[in-house]
Amino acid sequence: MRRLPPVLLKDGCSHDLISLIRTILAACKEISFRVGQGALSGVLGSTLDENIQGETQKKLDVLSNQLLKDILLESGYVKAIASEEEPGTVAGNPDAEYIVAFDPLDGSSNIDINSLVGTIFSIMRAPKDSDPADPNIFLQKGDQQVAAGYVLYGPSTMLALTTGQGTRIFTLDKTQGTFLLTQDFAKVPEQTKEFAINTSNQRHWQPAMQNYISDLLAGETGPRGRNFNMRWIAAMVGDVHRVLSRGGLFTYPQDTKNPEKPYKLRLLYEANPMAMLIEQAGGLASTGYERIMDIEPEQIHQRVAVILGSKEEVEACLSYHK
Ligand code: F6P
Ligand code: MN
Repeated sequence: MRRLPPVLLKDGCSHDLISLIRTILAACKEISFRVGQGALSGVLGSTLDENIQGETQKKLDVLSNQLLKDILLESGYVKAIASEEEPGTVAGNPDAEYIVAFDPLDGSSNIDINSLVGTIFSIMRAPKDSDPADPNIFLQKGDQQVAAGYVLYGPSTMLALTTGQGTRIFTLDKTQGTFLLTQDFAKVPEQTKEFAINTSNQRHWQPAMQNYISDLLAGETGPRGRNFNMRWIAAMVGDVHRVLSRGGLFTYPQDTKNPEKPYKLRLLYEANPMAMLIEQAGGLASTGYERIMDIEPEQIHQRVAVILGSKEEVEACLSYHK
């Protein structure tokens, strides 16, 4: 089975990019170990703090962030980092070519129930002669990502990675500490009978999403003429992995639950990297009104509506938004 570095070399990735990806994965292997140790590692439960998003930080959120931050900044391969758990960006090596935005531990409400969590990352090029301390260097469209991926800490630890030449899946061989290629060129099936949405928010959705979901729920006697099945892992990384593996539609739409927070997912380190992985596997990723990777970001922690997955089903959902 092929190991990660030769696969990326064959794709023509630069040595610095390969080293940067390997640096991220070194931190992820450590996170995988800590997650796997569960209560034994003494890191379950919450801290007394909230992050910049106003969410309670779990001990593993803080630890995962620290591991990624330290290893990336020490490596010399990054000019700056942006993280869900950091209020601002953090400057690194002024001469480095790349910047990395990451969600150190997505789905962290799953930690204490021994369910799926993962790390999501997006690698971009720093603009030439830019200041490493300038957060604006991160305000790039998703289309400008050089690479994107996630590491899913499940029964096995898996990496989904794209450098713009398809999406590949690797599995961590824990006996060797290496990621081995287990699926070359993942393909999201174009059609699906599965969707993922938190239906407890139904009364707060916009009419377009209300109508779309209600037609799915109507099943074979409704306008869609067939039955659909629903899944919700409450970790985007788990839901997107299922969509990559066997198709489906995943959405966290706009809602009016909290008027100050109409969207839940973050553009730079959740929506954009997942959009690139899904599009590179033949799927679509949209807000309902525009392609996710076309959005010009205005802030590093900006949130966005997300509809992604199987091409034909995303198109069906978008037809309700016209
Ligand atoms: O990072 C935000 C997140 O945890 C996603 O991973 C997940 O899809 C979503 O929030 C879960 O939201 P809810 O709490 O509404 O189920
Ligand atoms: Mn997250």
